[in-house]
Amino acid sequence: MERSVAVLVLLLVSLHIHNIYTAEIDIISDLQFLTENDMLVSPDGTFELGFFTPGGSENRYLGIWYKKISVKTVVWVANGEAPLSVASSAVLKILHPGNLVLMNGTDGVIMWSSNTTLSGNAVAKLEDTGNLVMTDEDYKEILWQSFDYPTDTLLPGMKLGKDLLTGREWYLSSWTSSEDPAPGDFTFSIDTHGYPQNIIKQGADMIKLRVGPWNGIRFSGVSSLNLNRLFTYNMVINETIVAYTYNLVSKSVVTRVTIDSSGDVQRWVWVEDADAKKWQLHSTYGGGFCDSYNICGAYGSCNTGNVQRCLCLNDTQFVPRSQEDWEAADWSGGCVRRTQLSCTNGSEGFIRYFNVKLPDTHTSWFNTSMNLRECEETCLKNCTCMAYANTNIKEGSGCLLWFNDLNDITAIHDGDGGQDIFVRMASSELAAQPGYKNRKTSIMFILLGVFLGVFVIGLSSTYFWYALRNRHHAQPIGEGESFHIWESQNEDMELPLFSFSTVAQSTNSFSPVNKLGEGGFGLVYKGVLEGREIAVKRLSMTSRQGLDEFKNEVICISKLQHRNLVKLLGCSIEGDEKLLIYEYMPNRSLDMFLFDKAKSTILDWVKRFHIIEGIARGLLYLHQDSRLRIIHRDLKADNILLDLDMNPRISDFGIARSFGGNETQANTERVVGTYGYMSPEYALDGLFSTKSDVFSYGVLVLEIVTGKRNRVFMHTKHDDNLIGHAWRMHDEGRSMELIDSTLDEPNDPCKVLRLIEVGLLCVQESPEDRPDMSYVVRMLGGEGALQKPKKPAFFTERILPSNDLSSSDTYPTSSTNGLTVTEVGAR
Ligand SMILES: *[C@@H]1O[C@H](CO)[C@@H](O)[C@H](O)[C@H]1NC(C)=O
Ligand SMILES: *[C@@H]1O[C@H](CO)[C@@H](O)[C@H](O)[C@H]1NC(C)=O
Ligand SMILES: *[C@@H]1O[C@H](CO)[C@@H](O)[C@H](O)[C@H]1NC(C)=O
Ligand SMILES: *[C@@H]1O[C@H](CO)[C@@H](O)[C@H](O)[C@H]1NC(C)=O
Ligand SMILES: *[C@@H]1O[C@H](CO)[C@@H](O)[C@H](O)[C@H]1NC(C)=O
Ligand SMILES: *[C@@H]1O[C@H](CO)[C@@H](O)[C@H](O)[C@H]1NC(C)=O
Ligand SMILES: *[C@@H]1O[C@H](CO)[C@@H](O)[C@H](O)[C@H]1NC(C)=O
Repeated sequence: MERSVAVLVLLLVSLHIHNIYTAEIDIISDLQFLTENDMLVSPDGTFELGFFTPGGSENRYLGIWYKKISVKTVVWVANGEAPLSVASSAVLKILHPGNLVLMNGTDGVIMWSSNTTLSGNAVAKLEDTGNLVMTDEDYKEILWQSFDYPTDTLLPGMKLGKDLLTGREWYLSSWTSSEDPAPGDFTFSIDTHGYPQNIIKQGADMIKLRVGPWNGIRFSGVSSLNLNRLFTYNMVINETIVAYTYNLVSKSVVTRVTIDSSGDVQRWVWVEDADAKKWQLHSTYGGGFCDSYNICGAYGSCNTGNVQRCLCLNDTQFVPRSQEDWEAADWSGGCVRRTQLSCTNGSEGFIRYFNVKLPDTHTSWFNTSMNLRECEETCLKNCTCMAYANTNIKEGSGCLLWFNDLNDITAIHDGDGGQDIFVRMASSELAAQPGYKNRKTSIMFILLGVFLGVFVIGLSSTYFWYALRNRHHAQPIGEGESFHIWESQNEDMELPLFSFSTVAQSTNSFSPVNKLGEGGFGLVYKGVLEGREIAVKRLSMTSRQGLDEFKNEVICISKLQHRNLVKLLGCSIEGDEKLLIYEYMPNRSLDMFLFDKAKSTILDWVKRFHIIEGIARGLLYLHQDSRLRIIHRDLKADNILLDLDMNPRISDFGIARSFGGNETQANTERVVGTYGYMSPEYALDGLFSTKSDVFSYGVLVLEIVTGKRNRVFMHTKHDDNLIGHAWRMHDEGRSMELIDSTLDEPNDPCKVLRLIEVGLLCVQESPEDRPDMSYVVRMLGGEGALQKPKKPAFFTERILPSNDLSSSDTYPTSSTNGLTVTEVGAR
């Protein structure tokens, strides 16, 4: 009795207060409800819940917004579809039994309700995540939470996806307009009909944009350009749930993902500094031509870089359904197979298409525990199965099958967002495709043939080839509103660690047939790790480092991210076996073009300028901008790999460091490097610094401009090497005579002369005289006169004292030019 009186008094008091003041409360309970002037505030004051009226509107809504942010930003709305009028009073309260309701305070009509029940008392609180949660009194059981009913905003920790047991979906819906939070035309959801993928839909059926499916690392078609340290991503796909979430690495970052009333999905980050307090656009979903759903029709592939946007998946095997429409730029009809499928008993096979955004998976089937071979067999058995691929490219596992025409494919040229797909083909098409995956019987011979061919033609000087997926081609994150930047999975993750046997298997047990080349630290093999081509370096020497240190070092190196560096994909450390796994690059290395008569013309001046600048930027990053301060120590044309667009990518960086143990000091017992590129202080005294890399860079620049190798350079009139010759000619004002004669006259001869000067400045004898890389980058970009280079080092020296840099220099294995020398000095 006494208790209820007290309650009544309390109630009256609180009512009384409510009517007069704005109150901040922290809980809604049987005793406490929220009226129009109240705010329910989260414990640390990040979010608050209350009533608001969007600008220009006459209505009032119950919503949640950031408390501390000066721009009122609503992240959730309860009664978007059932607004209150500005005039009426409203109250949010818990009705027995356990139902959270929003009522018209004047007539008691319920405008919105959580539709929940609970036998005991319930309480509701706003969490610091922005989640309004109703639980039992003991906070044990969650009865209802706003995170389960997203509106137009995805906050960190919220789910997108589907609960497969209850059938509940979590998706975003746009507001009708900025004044009306009622659900508008667009939704952003995960399509779980087949293998999960992201879609933005207009209305019930019209797909505006599709991203995905999830491939273990990211959504297919999304590049990992946006390596960022702000968020981690997580995708769960199992029998009970499909859920995507992101979380913040640092609590101090304020970010949200929204879908606006025109269907654009964007990520925003709050910036607050002296100049501005605003939401800055961090990234946008889609927006490019190729992002329009299925713009190129079935079996078409959209090409961002091309003048002709839509091509057939491959014009050898596919033709436009209607040539006429195709030529009129109406691509919607897509393409059809040149040779129809007949499906006679497994005579058909599959052709592999590289690096695409996987087709629409709406009618796909998947099994995440199958491997690619089982996948192929399963697909082959069923005549309606059109293609297969891995579900998880990180582990090269899982099976994804398509049972319809392949729609909405994009070719990925300048990023790593794509993956490979195997498309069913009539047997006659397979015959014309010797390089591609045919039936098992012939594959070994094919591989053998290919590799033997490769061996004969080209092994000569690369000791590393990687894939040229051009990881960091587009602009890096943070440079404003770039396109396509989207979630890749937690990119801060550790470097994938593979078992030795997995990698060994992928390279055919390090079969000689798979060997690509060799370098100072070991042999390099080509491998296919379930669907993805890789280059595997098998480190040959026992490191002086402990395993953990080695692993840490490699992980550190794997975090070096730059568009001009080759990407380390993973590693394997078991016992004495240390393997580094890189992307495979079919286009090989710079020396293959530069010093080859026929191919050197492909490298026109524009490309050469671009390469010289790219190498400089990559090296600057290693020297200065990365966290590790790496001295490469073996920079040479063979270690510059080229991607599809001829962007240079430095390879083998950091290996010397990670592999050499305690060699961070400036003097080493072990000289790693290549004659012709080594600075005198390094080659002779083992002294190295960033300036020894600058020397190598200078040699490279001269080689790129002249098309000649420093070491094997010959001249009829004198004995100088290329460096000496270049200096001589420069000194005599005849630099133009140096330039590669296989090329057309440069449009900009001054620029070429400048490059020669920069090269000569880099190869000056004394390290102190050489510019550092940041200065080199500025010189390359700038104008105006440069300092006059002093006489370079190694002017004439061609033969080095051979006692401490012995054997390896004499082209020991086959025709390997420019072999890296690794020599451990006496101790
Ligand atoms: C709330 O109730 C009052 C009194 O019945 C009514 O005039 C008002 O229109 C109601 N408000 C809404 C939004 O329904
Ligand atoms: C509660 O039930 C009503 C009536 O079925 C429905 O319109 C409303 O959307 C439900 N509310 C919630 C939060 O699910
Ligand atoms: C599915 O994933 C969820 C979230 O990780 C987990 O709680 C659940 O146990 C999983 N279910 C199965 C069947 O693996
Ligand atoms: C199409 O396939 C042929 C082999 O049949 C191959 O040589 C060619 O490079 C492919 N074209 C494209 C654009 O991939
Ligand atoms: C398909 O294969 C089965 C067994 O392998 C064989 O009995 C059948 O005749 C074949 N059919 C055709 C059309 O080749
Ligand atoms: C998936 O594949 C594995 C391995 O082949 C098999 O054991 C399992 O039954 C398959 N699951 C489904 C649902 O087909
Ligand atoms: C082929 O796959 C489709 C789609 O999963 C299925 O409906 C059909 O039964 C399968 N056919 C055979 C012969 O397995």
